[in-house]
Amino acid sequence: TGDSALVVAMDGPSGTGKSSVSRRLAARLGARYLDTGAMYRVATLRVLRAGVDLTDPAAIADTVAALPLSIGTDPSHEVVELDGDDVSAEIRGDAVTKAVSAVSAVGPVREQLVALQREIAAVSGRIVVEGRDIGTVVLTDADAKIYLTASAQARAQRRNAQNIREGRGDDYQAVLADVQRRDTLDSTRTVSPLRPADDAVLVDTSELTLDQTIDELYRVVAQQLSAT
Ligand code: DC
Repeated sequence: TGDSALVVAMDGPSGTGKSSVSRRLAARLGARYLDTGAMYRVATLRVLRAGVDLTDPAAIADTVAALPLSIGTDPSHEVVELDGDDVSAEIRGDAVTKAVSAVSAVGPVREQLVALQREIAAVSGRIVVEGRDIGTVVLTDADAKIYLTASAQARAQRRNAQNIREGRGDDYQAVLADVQRRDTLDSTRTVSPLRPADDAVLVDTSELTLDQTIDELYRVVAQQLSAT
């Protein structure tokens, strides 16, 4: 470790604790942090605000082509802006969450955001980049690659607990159905389907607390670094 360049690719489905874990791991490594899911969410918010038809990929690509997006990389402070507005809360809302799969499946949208992700990683040097295709597409020569998994039930339970905490109701069955629906969409789409890179280390968080997961990841990163 120290302050030399270090790129960690962190992939996996939602509900594995991936965002909290990636942020905490970045802080512990003295690295920057990039949430690529937030970038797809901002693109989706733009599409929704423009009233574009979600079944029209060409119109989606056009709307996202010039995206006035600003995203920070401080692991302890999230900054996400669209057109200078703080949209960090709005991009986590239901409307965006429902539409984001459609927008993130559009090829030109992915190409554009992937290019931006590579630029941010290059200028940051030391960074944990979190997403779905970081180890397979965006940063294939990352120094360490981790794929977080957890059972659909464990992921649904976590998301439902978060919904309860944040006053969005308690409906485990509906959340589980949504987790399974998104898994299918994300893993069967033709553009960048969700899968672990061949050289990624799989870490299952179903039975781990946040602290246990961080310890395990820190160990895995150190191991991958010493193996190269
Ligand atoms: O991790 P998240 O829930 O914020 O991601 C939002 C959506 O964006 C999700 O449907 C998957 C998609 N996504 C993607 O396709 N590629 C990435 N690198 C990150 C997220």
